[in-house]
Amino acid sequence: MTVSVDMGSDERGGSVPIDLEELLATRLLVQGNSGSGKSHLLRRLLERSAGQVQQVVIDPEGDFVTLSGAYGHVVIEAGDYSEREIARFATRLREHRASVVLSLEGLEVEGQMRCAAAFLSAMFDAPREHWYPALVVVDEAQLFAPAAAGEVTEEVRRASLSAMTNLMCRGRKRGLAGVIATQRLAKLAKNVAAEASNFLMGRTFLDIDMARAADLLGMDRRQAETIRDLQRGTFLALGPAVSRRPITVRIGAVETSARSGSPKLTPLPTATPPEDMKDLLFAPEPVVDQPGFAFDSRPMAVPPDRVIAQLGRSVPEPLTATERDPQEVEAIVAEVMRAIVADAEAALRPPSVLFQDFQVRCRMADLARPPLDLAGFTRRLSCARAGIFDLADEAWTTALDVAGGLPDDMLGAFLLVARAAREGAPCPSDAQIAETYGTSSLGRVRRLIGYIEQRELFVCRTDLTGKRSITIPRLGWTTQAAEAA
Ligand SMILES: Nc1ncnc2c1ncn2[C@@H]1O[C@H](COP(=O)(O)OP(=O)(O)OP(=O)(O)O)[C@@H](O)[C@H]1O
Ligand SMILES: [Mg+2]
Repeated sequence: MTVSVDMGSDERGGSVPIDLEELLATRLLVQGNSGSGKSHLLRRLLERSAGQVQQVVIDPEGDFVTLSGAYGHVVIEAGDYSEREIARFATRLREHRASVVLSLEGLEVEGQMRCAAAFLSAMFDAPREHWYPALVVVDEAQLFAPAAAGEVTEEVRRASLSAMTNLMCRGRKRGLAGVIATQRLAKLAKNVAAEASNFLMGRTFLDIDMARAADLLGMDRRQAETIRDLQRGTFLALGPAVSRRPITVRIGAVETSARSGSPKLTPLPTATPPEDMKDLLFAPEPVVDQPGFAFDSRPMAVPPDRVIAQLGRSVPEPLTATERDPQEVEAIVAEVMRAIVADAEAALRPPSVLFQDFQVRCRMADLARPPLDLAGFTRRLSCARAGIFDLADEAWTTALDVAGGLPDDMLGAFLLVARAAREGAPCPSDAQIAETYGTSSLGRVRRLIGYIEQRELFVCRTDLTGKRSITIPRLGWTTQAAEAA
């Protein structure tokens, strides 16, 4: 099964998918100047692949912590823990396959590098039985794999660089797939950049970065000039997981927002006259009774044992909603299915893609675990597309049982007819059935009906005026007669 992640649209408005399995094998490098939309792109990738693959984000700015609400990532605020604790979390998250955001916000560069090194190395060194596939997203990767020595100590630089090199060069066998983003390609260590086979290049101004980008893309400098004119949010994409030829992709929308957005100009305050403004600026500090209170407004750190417990809890495996009353869960699922089929674009998307949408919407409705797996969702989608939402209704559970022996892709057509039959409505036309069956060939529809008839689930009857009615004998329901063509 290929799982693809819809990243956005190409120049002609077609969707641009990334093949997730191929990405796991071939890694990704994203580059673009500040504000070109790299973090937005990473967020799109993370949101759209959440639930399909474990995700670990190394997040220097604390931008991605907002994934925890909608997608259930465990957030680790690195500044609250020791290096050893951070390494322990890394080992545990591999064992439990937890999706995690390691926020390095507020640490000095050296601390960020130390922490990333400890974290990545422990993930890399996890025991073989925990080598599950995971996307490891590193934003601002030039911080952790700098091309040149900086102001940090040589020991820290080496540790961080070697962890990044391991991730990109030797991670694949261990299930780790590096997805790295950088503002400045020229500042990123060459061997780290060179290990990615997929590229998404955003707007780039400096010649030196452009030259590096051209090298990686295998383009001549003149061709690569196009990168200079790219709009924010538009990237030139190339690589086995995206496209064998360079294509431009406009990255689509995201569900969650970055904690830090772009600054927007707002009108300056005009109401305060200059002399009052001076008073405001020179006003003395308010006196605080409790010493220390005003200075440390950070929330208390989560104790390490609690983090470990969270990592264990986010195991993605049993997808059952035991915590909630089944009727309530059923009502939420029905609502979510209505919302999904109401979205016009959804008609064209395959169930595996809509399943992600389903998972997100369930979480938004406060169902911590989606109540259906992909197979269950696919059946439910067939029902919804046939206009059947309320599966608490026993007649529909019986109808689904009756249809149990049919291949999944025929279920929608069966249910469309079943609904008309139950309601005594006119028999759906071949064209209507073709739509649910995802075909434009009326010949295929006739073969489909023939197949269901052979299974004795349908009995078709054509009256003297040429109108067709269909009976479902095992349910005792019959449609009204109507034109088939
Ligand atoms: N495809 C897009 N659609 C809509 N908005 C976008 C898109 N790409 C980026 N933006 C917006 O543009 C702004 C800058 O994007 P983003 O933060 O992703 O840039 P960046 O390349 O990560 O910059 P930096 O290197 O400074 O972190 C953000 O407010 C983001 O929401
Ligand atoms: Mg960014």
